[in-house]
Amino acid sequence: MVYLRNFIEQSANDTGKWRVSASGIVHAFCYDTESAKNPKPLKGLTSSLNIFRDFFELKQTLEVPFRGFRGDFKKMKKILIINGPNLNLLGKRETSVYGNESFESYFEKLKTDYGSTVRLEYFQSNIEGGIIDKIQEAGFSCDGIILNAGAYTHTSIAIADAVRAVSAPVVEVHISNVYARESYRHQSFIAEACKGCILGFGLDSYRLAVEALLIC
Ligand code: DQA
Repeated sequence: MVYLRNFIEQSANDTGKWRVSASGIVHAFCYDTESAKNPKPLKGLTSSLNIFRDFFELKQTLEVPFRGFRGDFKKMKKILIINGPNLNLLGKRETSVYGNESFESYFEKLKTDYGSTVRLEYFQSNIEGGIIDKIQEAGFSCDGIILNAGAYTHTSIAIADAVRAVSAPVVEVHISNVYARESYRHQSFIAEACKGCILGFGLDSYRLAVEALLIC
């Protein structure tokens, strides 16, 4: 049981967007800390606005059981998802292999499910150097990287070296089961530099990778 008031006061000092799911009186609560003086629910959760406004103005204490929220924002794990070449075309590209859903749509669901426990960020590049730059930039400050390097998985020693260079654990992810596909996809230069690999579960490979990083 967590006091909603405590949560608001604590999060008001932080930056970034918040989403907390709660059951009971308050079903969903959204709070944009950039407008702490004028809090508003994030898109799609308008029903929480009145609850929030009432609470904020009346300073009443609502006691609600929270699902998922396990600490304060600064202590939340920050996980970066990096997608490599052609993964910007998910939902359109070879749908029999990669499915019909865009990554942006899937990422919204991930944030809905994990947004109150993990700070999730997403980056995509079709360029090998762009992926390397991002690994270097985030790899010393975040708590984990989920990396689907696409076809660079099978060719790039440079990306593997970047993974080795940083301190954050990296989980290699593939949507398809690459071992059930062409033999040139059976080799990964990146895998041995990673903490572990998850593949073949469709887009839910990313969800499983988040879970894996939560226990790292
Ligand atoms: C992929 C598998 C790679 O072999 C392929 O080049 C991709 C996607 C996957 O997620 O299944 O682009 O990484």
